[in-house]
Amino acid sequence: MTAGVTEPTWRPLARRLADRLTADGDLRTPQWRAALLAVPRHEFVPRYYLQDTSTRPARWIAHEPHDPADVARWLELVYSPTTLITEIVDDSERGVQVPVCSSTKPDLMIRMLEALQLSTGMRALEIGTGTGYNAGLMAHRLGDRNVYSVDIDPALVTAARHRLSGLGYRPTLAAGDGADGLADHAPFDRIIATCALRAIPPAWIDQLRPGGLVLAHLEGPLGAGNLVALRRGEQPVVQGKFLPWWGCFMRRRTTTGPTSGSHRPTPTTQQATTRPSTLDPAELDGGFRFLAQLHLPAETFRSIRLADDHTPVTYLLAPDGSWAEVTRHADACGHYTAREAGPTPLWTAVESAWTEWNHLGTPPWHDFGITATPNEHRIWHSDPAGPSWRLPIPTRRPAW
Ligand SMILES: C[S@@+](CC[C@H](N)C(=O)[O-])C[C@H]1O[C@@H](n2cnc3c(N)ncnc32)[C@H](O)[C@@H]1O
Repeated sequence: MTAGVTEPTWRPLARRLADRLTADGDLRTPQWRAALLAVPRHEFVPRYYLQDTSTRPARWIAHEPHDPADVARWLELVYSPTTLITEIVDDSERGVQVPVCSSTKPDLMIRMLEALQLSTGMRALEIGTGTGYNAGLMAHRLGDRNVYSVDIDPALVTAARHRLSGLGYRPTLAAGDGADGLADHAPFDRIIATCALRAIPPAWIDQLRPGGLVLAHLEGPLGAGNLVALRRGEQPVVQGKFLPWWGCFMRRRTTTGPTSGSHRPTPTTQQATTRPSTLDPAELDGGFRFLAQLHLPAETFRSIRLADDHTPVTYLLAPDGSWAEVTRHADACGHYTAREAGPTPLWTAVESAWTEWNHLGTPPWHDFGITATPNEHRIWHSDPAGPSWRLPIPTRRPAW
């Protein structure tokens, strides 16, 4: 057992966690309670990282508990609703360390497993094996032969396989890009993604059985999004609504390195137009951002920075070099100053999204749903037949 942790030590902690998740409404069914009590999370997190923010840039410090005080602190964290970072890579381009794997907080994991409505005999595919803990929970619930999990990082897959088999679980684990699914083992009744994506990959739609469910975190160009549960029909179409509770994941990677950031385009040098705007750019920090991003090009960057005169501005930059800059503080008349340049008037697009959002009654994201085919994703408000917008998906590959 890891760090000599015995059953009488961890089992009461697992029970306490299960009781807490039940009280909080995350854990609802006896089957998932049984899985949570049976699978020792500490075996999957022998080492974790905590951020030291006293340095610039902040550093991630590895903790491998050995002495009794460290072990006690680690077990408290492991058997609590806490995400534990388990892998860090250096992003040499940006000169920072980036977390690339974690053991997801158990309250979120269990809520997602409950939302998947898994039942005995179903076959489930997980994207993002990570530590293997979630695959262990699913293997306990569904049996080894019904659980498949894939991770982009072969070293993580090997380590997860080793931990799982040490506990007597042997689900099928594979290394590869989860966006491709696992064609050799399809069809699946359920697909659960534990990394965030820009869109539902066509392979998942193909590999999902009619009536099957996919649960994933979809994130738009401005980073706004949430978990969405989509059901497949007879045709290769999945449809459903964003969930009312919040859950977010690390972005999908296409290599074992850090998430490949989009290349920042060069801003156009065309003359900017300057005009007053009544829209407070701080609105883009809240619930409006979800709809706003549907009106912007797929790879629009957003940041808050200091303008040439050292006043803070919200800055948008699109792949075609178009940019917009809007002051964060209103003048005496309640106006913000917007500057726009390039072929795509970005702030104008945000303003028209604002009018639309207000017209719809300022809906939160869970009033929206999505219909996805292998070729197109449409986001709709309230009802698939209601107002809808095409989800901007990057055109360069890989798009998801
Ligand atoms: C939050 S962790 C997963 C947690 C995991 N389910 C667990 O129980 O420990 C996200 C994982 O997604 C994986 N990942 C990122 N991009 C991926 C991709 N394209 N295909 C498959 N896995 C990917 C990462 O390597 C990382 O292990």
